[in-house]
Amino acid sequence: MSMLILFLICCATFSGSTGNYHNGLDIVKDTITGLEEKCGTCGYQKLSSQTSETSETIQKYTSQEYESIIKEKDSQITKLQVQLASKKENIKDFKKQLEIKTVECEARLEEKSNQLADQKSIIQSLVANCSSGTQQINELQNKVKFLEIQMEALRPKAVLENNKEILTCESFENSSKIEVLQIPGIAEPFSALCDAEVAGSGWIVIQRRFDGSVNFDRIWEDYRFGFGNLNGEFFFGLEKLHQITKWKPHELYIQLKDYNNRTLYVRFEQFEIENEESDYMIKRVGNCITNATNVKILQKNIKFNTRDKINCKYFSCVGSYGWWHIASMSNLNVPKYSQLYWEEYNKAIKVKSTKMMIKPKRWLQD
Ligand SMILES: *[C@@H]1O[C@H](CO)[C@@H](O)[C@H](O)[C@H]1NC(C)=O
Ligand SMILES: *[C@@H]1O[C@H](CO)[C@@H](O)[C@H](O)[C@H]1NC(C)=O
Ligand SMILES: *[C@@H]1O[C@H](CO)[C@@H](O)[C@H](O)[C@H]1NC(C)=O
Ligand SMILES: *[C@@H]1O[C@H](CO)[C@@H](O)[C@H](O)[C@H]1NC(C)=O
Repeated sequence: MSMLILFLICCATFSGSTGNYHNGLDIVKDTITGLEEKCGTCGYQKLSSQTSETSETIQKYTSQEYESIIKEKDSQITKLQVQLASKKENIKDFKKQLEIKTVECEARLEEKSNQLADQKSIIQSLVANCSSGTQQINELQNKVKFLEIQMEALRPKAVLENNKEILTCESFENSSKIEVLQIPGIAEPFSALCDAEVAGSGWIVIQRRFDGSVNFDRIWEDYRFGFGNLNGEFFFGLEKLHQITKWKPHELYIQLKDYNNRTLYVRFEQFEIENEESDYMIKRVGNCITNATNVKILQKNIKFNTRDKINCKYFSCVGSYGWWHIASMSNLNVPKYSQLYWEEYNKAIKVKSTKMMIKPKRWLQD
């Protein structure tokens, strides 16, 4: 404002120098008044009117309405506080329950782990008992073996009816050669191939095939008495097989080699053949022990077949005689060497060589 006045004074001085003095002062007065009306006063009035509007509004709000809003807010706050308190309560409850559950869980856990420890100690004691039992069994087995040897030494030498000594492959310990055997029920001494290389000593070899040099397409009589060459391929003979297995319980061991260079064995803990009237039926086969899988070869109560004496009712034996046929492709005496198969996993596996052997059963295996 002082700047404006200074400017106006300057203007007045200037105009004063051209007109009379009285006139100039009036003009200044008028101008100031006009300006005051135009600017200063109106600005102030605007401001003061706004101010009064505001204070009216404030008054409006400070009055009932504002109070009611505050009250409402207060009541809301109170409500929220109540809710908060109840939530807090809930949380407290929950926490408590949680604590209780935790304690319960811990108790149960401890119980379980105690049970586990108990069971563990039971198992440990069982294992300990078991191994001490096994040890006792082993000791007893050793004692029995020792007694068997002593008894064997005390027993008078077994003899044939004609007072000749009984000779089996066991009499020729460690022999894998052709020996002359004398066995009860078989009138004459006979030559047989012994084997001590495949599965311990004392085995009589009853069948061998490995090169197809011997014809296995034979009639009943041939199978009855045996055929072939003891140094090559042969079949031992059903009658001797019957007499020997009748005389003493024998085991059967079959060794098979295939064209994948696998060697497998199938061992029957017992093997007994009936007499000729029963068509040399398999009277007994014991447990089968093998490192092949699912080999189907022999079965109890099955009669022997040759092409001139057919006892077989399976389709698979047509043209494939010389065996105790079961529902299986296995026939180790099949006529043609090139058709030598055994059945494994229900598949025919081509066989390169066979060796069948028998040996008196040891009640205690080595
Ligand atoms: C182990 O054997 C001992 C004595 O022979 C016996 O007292 C104990 O109960 C056996 N333990 C078990 C778990 O069978
Ligand atoms: C048979 O072989 C075993 C083991 O090699 C040997 O201890 C035993 O003395 C042999 N028996 C004979 C009669 O040669
Ligand atoms: C079997 O063994 C022979 C001789 O060691 C070898 O020549 C042949 O390749 C082998 N066959 C298979 C199928 O492994
Ligand atoms: C089966 O056992 C025989 C005799 O112990 C062994 O020579 C052969 O390698 C074994 N075969 C298999 C496939 O384990």
